[in-house]
Amino acid sequence: MKPTISIKGLNYTYPDGTKALSDINLEVAKNESVALIGPNGAGKTTLLLHLNGIIRNGSVEVMGMEINDRNLMKIRSSVGLVFQNPDDQLFSPTVFDDVAFGPLNMSLGEQDVMARVKESLGQVELEGYENRSCHHLSFGEKKRAAIATVLSMQPEILVLDEPTLGMDPWVKKDFLALLGKLMHLRTIIVATHDNDVLRMCDRAYLFSKGRIISEMDEFKDIEKIRIEQQ
Ligand SMILES: Nc1ncnc2c1ncn2[C@@H]1O[C@H](COP(=O)(O)OP(=O)(O)OP(=O)(O)O)[C@@H](O)[C@H]1O
Ligand SMILES: [Mg+2]
Repeated sequence: MKPTISIKGLNYTYPDGTKALSDINLEVAKNESVALIGPNGAGKTTLLLHLNGIIRNGSVEVMGMEINDRNLMKIRSSVGLVFQNPDDQLFSPTVFDDVAFGPLNMSLGEQDVMARVKESLGQVELEGYENRSCHHLSFGEKKRAAIATVLSMQPEILVLDEPTLGMDPWVKKDFLALLGKLMHLRTIIVATHDNDVLRMCDRAYLFSKGRIISEMDEFKDIEKIRIEQQ
């Protein structure tokens, strides 16, 4: 069976000349959970931005398709990307509007949209936040609202950039339980500095300076992993 995500020889340099990715080769099978780990600036977020075509750059196949203008919409509805910074995800006046945005664009009926919003807010423990302004949420609440905007679309592939950042320990515990359930249903790629998230994954790629320097399926704590200096 073809991998759900296949990346071969990917290089990426930002317009200002910063080289962010070099010769990345990576495959993710259907329903696999894969972590991307490595120090700040190693290229994890840059890679995730390729997975739904925010950065378009060849060398990336999603569900057997190289991302192009014709299939971009289809790929975006199948790949749900939760940004590292929730301010990049939340743009509507209220939490309800942001979480309903995806389902409304999928042309679901009103009842279904309402049900999706309720379920997704419940999954991140933001019940009752529908009418709150996204701008006035705390960082941890924004992060959870951003996750809800993606869960509401029920994407086949879930791409999470530092999902537990800013979560309090109680919410995080419940979020990890949700993540565990989602891992049985979906393909998940997650960039993380969090040992608890890493340990839940099937495999991990270790990034350093824009390269994958190792692939692992047994995990030490992240802080014990030696990163090559060059
Ligand atoms: N928009 C941009 N323009 C120029 N350079 C960028 C841009 N975004 C990121 N970079 C640079 O690209 C490199 C990779 O950054 P990236 O954000 O992918 O790292 P990361 O592994 O996600 O780090 P972190 O753990 O801090 O989230 C870094 O050197 C970063 O400074
Ligand atoms: Mg990042």
